[in-house]
Amino acid sequence: MIADVKVLLEEAKAGKYAVGAFNTINLETTRAIIETASELSSPVIVQVTEKTFDYAGARAIFHLIKNIAEFYAKDIPVGIHLDHGKSFEVVERAMDIGFGSVMYDGSRKEYVDNCMMTKKIVDIAHSRGIAVQAELGNVPYLGEMQMENIKWEEYMTDPDQAEAFVKETGIDTLAVAIGNAHGFFRERSEPDYERLSAVAKRVSIPLVLHGASDWHNGRITEVIERGISCFNVDTAIRLAFIGGLREGLLSQDEADLRKVLATGKEYTKSAIKEKILAFGSAGKA
Ligand code: G3H
Ligand code: 13P
Ligand code: ZN
Repeated sequence: MIADVKVLLEEAKAGKYAVGAFNTINLETTRAIIETASELSSPVIVQVTEKTFDYAGARAIFHLIKNIAEFYAKDIPVGIHLDHGKSFEVVERAMDIGFGSVMYDGSRKEYVDNCMMTKKIVDIAHSRGIAVQAELGNVPYLGEMQMENIKWEEYMTDPDQAEAFVKETGIDTLAVAIGNAHGFFRERSEPDYERLSAVAKRVSIPLVLHGASDWHNGRITEVIERGISCFNVDTAIRLAFIGGLREGLLSQDEADLRKVLATGKEYTKSAIKEKILAFGSAGKA
């Protein structure tokens, strides 16, 4: 069933577990996410980016997720979320299509500009019953930075600024930067756990961690303890899908594309299962 993302994450915060927000691009990934969550009786968030709007069609992918959630997963709550909306136009488009939750990512902008646009979006979204996530600090992308001499301080969320930002904008969830980075193995050697605790102390809304799909379970547990209620997961499941496809193509002389894609889907399901178990959301549906 379709669920309210804000409620899902507030329940996770209260229950000291985290919900996985998994990126989808197609039918197989969407089914893998929702089937795995259903098998584990876990709440789940399915999310798409602007690039996927271009790839799959924004309406097509939204209704694909919605139909699968409504008709094949009546037993678990499924949130549908726009991930990393980088402009007012794309966020507005997602709201018009029916997304119940949107991220406006103004993290590359100056603080005042990020704050102003986030507030404008929150006002419109809230009048329509839609939740908003924003990012403060900056979770960099693979390829965006040199690995040597990274000045992590420049990327991190400032706890005092986070408090002011949440107050001024009225957002529902906040994506934080504590040394995490999108893609595999680009992180700071250790996350800044103390900074996370400081943000969690000043901010009462659920906190979201992007770019941590390569983290080991010890780190995952530590940041949940310190206030993370949602993990965005993309690279881990994309790599699993590609691994499955490779296996499917190598192991059989197959002309039925569905069988090749099904191998990709099965590998994706295993990766998702591992994450849901680590996040502690199994059995919380
Ligand atoms: O941060 C989110 C995704 O990893 C970016 O994926 O290639 O769909 O923009 P994308
Ligand atoms: P990874 O690509 O590192 O899994 O990060 C996913 C993410 O943050 C999506 O918003
Ligand atoms: Zn992200």
